[in-house]
Amino acid sequence: MLKDSLLVEGGHPLYGKVRVSGAKNAGLVLMTASIMADGETILDNLPRIRDVEVMIQILNDIGAKSKWNEDGSLSICSPAGSLKNPTSYELAKKLRASNLFLGAMLGRQAEAVVSLPGGCDIGSRPMDLHLKGVQALGAETQIEHGYIYASMKHGRGGRVYLDFPSVGATENIMMLAAKTPGITIIENAAKEPEIVDLANFLNAMGAKIRGTGTDVIKVEGVEELKAIRHAIIPDRIEAGTFMVAAAISGGEILVENVIPTHLHPVVAKLKEMGAFVEENDQGILVRAGEKVMPVDIKTLPYPGFPTDMQSQMMALLCLSRGSSIIVENVFENRFQIVDELNRMGAKIKVEGHTAVVEGVKTLYGTRVKATDLRAGAALVLAALAARGQTVIENAIHIFRGYENLSEKLNQLGAKVQ
Ligand code: EPZ
Repeated sequence: MLKDSLLVEGGHPLYGKVRVSGAKNAGLVLMTASIMADGETILDNLPRIRDVEVMIQILNDIGAKSKWNEDGSLSICSPAGSLKNPTSYELAKKLRASNLFLGAMLGRQAEAVVSLPGGCDIGSRPMDLHLKGVQALGAETQIEHGYIYASMKHGRGGRVYLDFPSVGATENIMMLAAKTPGITIIENAAKEPEIVDLANFLNAMGAKIRGTGTDVIKVEGVEELKAIRHAIIPDRIEAGTFMVAAAISGGEILVENVIPTHLHPVVAKLKEMGAFVEENDQGILVRAGEKVMPVDIKTLPYPGFPTDMQSQMMALLCLSRGSSIIVENVFENRFQIVDELNRMGAKIKVEGHTAVVEGVKTLYGTRVKATDLRAGAALVLAALAARGQTVIENAIHIFRGYENLSEKLNQLGAKVQ
């Protein structure tokens, strides 16, 4: 049904400038961390996207009253005393990030009940590293009927080695450690910018966290955290998505409100592919090259090439002058978009974690469906360059993580509705 579909007319090069919204993956964890302080937390630069609205429902559900203010900021008021567990399965199913209540609730009130996240379209989303981390700090956990029940009697700081630098596990352990007496060391920690933003937020609340952005994070537990006001960092994945939009549509876009260091892997690859990319004091300017050169891409934890930009790059490589190899090292099943792109005339073959993209001259508009947030965004990008009209079904996935995407694209000259 057209209701939650996007209709894109291809062939219009995009020109102009676009301002990137606040980062979804920083906003969601900061909204969760805010319950670790009583009183009113105010978050600025939070994107009005579906995932944020679902998180607002969850916060209200557990008793942390949340509402948008006139000035566009979000207020989250956590009362003194206990918040309600568990977050409802219905809501938790809609939002993987609800698993971050494990660390925040344990840190706030020494008990937590979170739903094991349902599988999603990019692979099963295990929580073994989250559990290993909170157990190292003294939490007792058990899993029943699809929920994790956790409690802390005598928490003590501890040392945790993460077999994989999991973003969510690092965030859960950091939040719990912030309020756990003693010193906690997290080794092989995730280094994403969203982790650094979380540490800045918690430290401004009174926490003592050092080393985020490196492999080893050191946390000294404190008694109490205070509610503060904080502005979310810009969304590096939304920024990267618009940078690819310039390259794939044959236009030129100035992407404003970005932190250039967060985009180095994407900038490097776009330059290798023949685009003109320049960082200036307003943001990052991207102009399409004469042609798209084939490149190889391996996704890795930050500062490697981000998995959340893999589908967008695949769409662009479909129109390159040669063969490219994409290796997805972070998620086990993040090539769902391949079948949809091949329906548009692309030539992509998948072997396990590797996709071989043979460039074609033209993509053709047709009916396709979004399987996850970033695949959906990548289909919009392919549709911008395709001949004719493309209908993207299940567009709800796209609205989960992109604020006003159609409006932003149309003001750059696209024809999206
Ligand atoms: C965060 O997910 C992001 N989501 C994802 O963005 C992003 O793709 C991912 O980090 C990687 O950068 C949010 O921040 C809300 P992980 P997260 O734990 O924390 C395995 C988007 O499109 N793993 O770093 O769930 C896991 O299976 C979304 O915005 C374990 O094995 O990612 C996966 O293969 C998609 N055991 C890999 O680690 C664990 O206990 C990376 O997962 C935890 C994870």
